[in-house]
Amino acid sequence: MIPTKQQCEELHRKYASSDKHFELCWTHCVIVAEIALRCVDEKSLEVDRAMLEAACLLHDIGAYMLMNEDGEITSYYNLHAIFGSKILEEEGVDERIQQAVENHVMLGMTADDYKKTGWANPFKDYIPSTVEQRLVNYGDRFHSKVPIFNSLDSIKAKLTRVSPDKLQTLEKYVQEFGLPDLHALADKYNHPIA
Ligand SMILES: [Fe+2]
Repeated sequence: MIPTKQQCEELHRKYASSDKHFELCWTHCVIVAEIALRCVDEKSLEVDRAMLEAACLLHDIGAYMLMNEDGEITSYYNLHAIFGSKILEEEGVDERIQQAVENHVMLGMTADDYKKTGWANPFKDYIPSTVEQRLVNYGDRFHSKVPIFNSLDSIKAKLTRVSPDKLQTLEKYVQEFGLPDLHALADKYNHPIA
């Protein structure tokens, strides 16, 4: 099943631990969907639009159980992609959306990346393999639930902390999808750019 935007919102409400958490996470997911769909339009990409939008809207559904009371992330936050994918499997959501959610961390993580970071993830490869998966991943880099928009420089700084190799990956994504107009989005949502 590919959920509509309203069904995605209902799923968020079902798993959100508070209204505050819902607002942070749902708004972030709406913004990521907007960034991804803007990239699609700008580059005239051929994608499954409904599936892409739902994947963006649901990509952080697993985050709620890993946020503290203030909505801040906990040390096990990096499991949220796997938890999210499992939630969507239980909810009968399209398998392609489950995969996009599972693979949306840091432009793709290998087993080696996870070993180096020490994050509590299974040592497996989680690499985006379709244009829709790459777009969820890419859109997600430009906004954080603080809430702030992330400039290209801050994305580079974050990715470098995981692995300098990721800068080459980022460059490929920029070539494929272009750069979103963060100033327009920052004005629309009234979130600063960091
Ligand atoms: Fe996200």
